[in-house]
Amino acid sequence: MDFSNEAKQLFKEHYGQAPSMIAQAPGRVNLIGEHTDYNDGFVLPMALPMRTVVAFTPRNGQQVRMISKGYPAVSFDLSHDPRSLNGWVRYVAGVAHFLQEQGLEVPGFDAAITTEVPGGAGLSSSASLEVAVGMAMNVMAGSTLDGAAIARIGQRVENDIIGVSSGIMDQLISAIAVEGSALLIDCRSLEASAYPIPAGKSVVVFDTNTRRELETSAYGDRQRTCSRAAAVLGVEKLRDATLTQVNEAQLTPLERRRARHVVSENERTERAAKALHEGDAVAFGELMNESHRSLRDDFEVSSVALDTMVGLAQGEPGCLGARMTGGGFGGCAVALVDAEIAEDLARAVAQKYEIELGVEPASWVVSPGGGASVTTL
Ligand code: GLA
Repeated sequence: MDFSNEAKQLFKEHYGQAPSMIAQAPGRVNLIGEHTDYNDGFVLPMALPMRTVVAFTPRNGQQVRMISKGYPAVSFDLSHDPRSLNGWVRYVAGVAHFLQEQGLEVPGFDAAITTEVPGGAGLSSSASLEVAVGMAMNVMAGSTLDGAAIARIGQRVENDIIGVSSGIMDQLISAIAVEGSALLIDCRSLEASAYPIPAGKSVVVFDTNTRRELETSAYGDRQRTCSRAAAVLGVEKLRDATLTQVNEAQLTPLERRRARHVVSENERTERAAKALHEGDAVAFGELMNESHRSLRDDFEVSSVALDTMVGLAQGEPGCLGARMTGGGFGGCAVALVDAEIAEDLARAVAQKYEIELGVEPASWVVSPGGGASVTTL
């Protein structure tokens, strides 16, 4: 598939010549393993076919000029502190900043950026931008940082420049995804193994088209509660705790529920990878359903819109399992369904959701895409 035509075209229109290289990085959907990454646990995401594409050419000097469809042209100087900038340029300037801090000689460049990843939907559009520009700058600097190193840079941009304390999952899957497979990632060691989606099954992503302003503060809140629970349990991260420890320790009722989600979700995620390995889609679906219950009742990051979407999907014949995906409070749900009825099921769920909530959702039947890459033209 050629994702790059639109970005090449935009580059030509704007700079009056063809770009010399193309970088691309996908958005992601997480199949299971939610709110586990910052607890050093397990996640099982896959890359979406939707990508962010950067057409670019190095230029002399320290200026970076960028154009993105629907936005005014922007530029920044590579020596500037990204924290002094505003808007989406901070993502790119942030990546440049941390690469330079690692000793890379990032040159100035011109870039045209397009994306198919819906913004604000919890499908990691910002991670796909960070990874795509990280890959581009890595090549321009003549460096050979691997996907994990570029993912870490993207995460630092979120944490230290944007002020979102997210884990490593989104950037890492965008950087190292394997086409046709979900990746079981150990977020402590960053070790990853590929598990193909069972034959005859499809993944459907449903966007509730609801967003929650408070998401960032609630996310930080969950992280702090997890850290407190880990401290009481005497472990470095909740990844190191067992359910027995969680049940027996002197935790507050709230800490116990939050910790129970994380510890049980880690177990579910490892079991889900095993189910994929055995081609057991039924077991996988049941684990997705359990994950949703745990996120709703113990971690409390679901919403009426997400519960409605998940309930409707779970009620359709041919749906093996469904759950909210990503940070929560709005955004997307994900389901594993029989492939031959995937489109019909997506349509039926979307229609019922719209009748019930009066909000028009979006849905996509998706196959796991590959990870980020750079091509010289
Ligand atoms: C957001 C964050 C991820 C992860 C998920 C929850 O998507 O960016 O790092 O913590 O929430 O699993």
